[in-house]
Amino acid sequence: MKEITHLTNLPTPCYYYNIELLQKTLEKVKAEVAKYPLFHVHYAVKANANPVLLKLISASGLGADCVSGNEVGRAVECGFAPDQIVYAGVGKNDEEIRVALNADIFCFNSESLPEIRVIDEIAAACGKKARIALRVNPNVDAHTHHYITTGIEENKFGIYLYDLEHVIEESRMLPNVELIGLHFHIGSQITDMGVFRSLCLKVNEIQQKLKRKGIVFPHINFGGGLGIDYNHPYGEPIADFENYFATFAKFFEAEPYQQVHFELGRSIIAHCGDMISKVLYVKEGRNKKFVILDAGMNDLLRPALYQAFHKIENISSDKPEEKYDVVGPICESADCFGKDVSLKGTARGDLIVIHSAGAYGEAMASQYNLRDLPATFFSVPQH
Ligand code: LLP
Repeated sequence: MKEITHLTNLPTPCYYYNIELLQKTLEKVKAEVAKYPLFHVHYAVKANANPVLLKLISASGLGADCVSGNEVGRAVECGFAPDQIVYAGVGKNDEEIRVALNADIFCFNSESLPEIRVIDEIAAACGKKARIALRVNPNVDAHTHHYITTGIEENKFGIYLYDLEHVIEESRMLPNVELIGLHFHIGSQITDMGVFRSLCLKVNEIQQKLKRKGIVFPHINFGGGLGIDYNHPYGEPIADFENYFATFAKFFEAEPYQQVHFELGRSIIAHCGDMISKVLYVKEGRNKKFVILDAGMNDLLRPALYQAFHKIENISSDKPEEKYDVVGPICESADCFGKDVSLKGTARGDLIVIHSAGAYGEAMASQYNLRDLPATFFSVPQH
């Protein structure tokens, strides 16, 4: 019950970020990546673009992985060095390409020849040369939720392997682009290191094939995807960065001096954020009890969209545990945070914490039902 004191006065629903945990997580990432001098980590801004958090992440020296012109702008504003910013996305519009070129970002991750041709034209008009890494769809199954699997051929993502050499040849003829690397991202919330091993082996194969044609790129980007334990016990949950980087160091056969990039989102920020909500009502159905929260799927979409599991806890009660369906106030049956959840005996006004909501939580919040966006608070006051 000690934990509760600093949370009781917060207006709900809100996101509450543990800044100390974020700092410890960043230190761990830095310590692990420092073991491999040619490895570079870019934080995937899409996971959480809150400026307070971005400033802390940029100050730690990580680069940024952006997926829109606005994310590029926000990353620069929050202190990320432009030469450490990569910009991905299956459909960048002309204005976004211009924003990124004018910011002198490190590189575009591009997924189609039509887009590369447009980047070439806009670069000419801006008097710039655009650095590009080709996002390749390696046809490696991440064995994660199908909505967040991206590296198999049925997905819209990446240049398909049969087309790769053709795209390289065509792109090399364009005067205002410079191909500097290959980019891969096969999915998110991957906890089986065997999947990353398979990715390494596939990339080795692709590299060997290209090398036989005399093509070697200075940069390889493996994207993100390192998963976390959403059911973590108490203590300090930090993702398994050690094993993750070690897997790539062991199985990826880098060419001499080849720089290796990663784009990590969830593993950096997920555990650092909780959704804090208050119980509006406890409603008794014929066979079950519903806990109706003041937070809804507009505040935290993951459970409704992906049936994602988040640990839910009543931090106000000392009563014996009971089972509840924990739901929000939105007019949709999908507005449910968990079914048959064991919570301490729950009553109106109790504070409910939905854990590990720092990644793809606030970032995916909407004003559906014309509700307010959730407020944000930090464990260390920000000035
Ligand atoms: N790089 C690229 C090209 C990506 O598409 C993504 C995530 C990342 C990096 C970062 O992946 P991470 O390290 O966070 O797994 N909204 C979903 C997740 C969507 C992930 C989209 N791409 C969720 O809430 O689970």
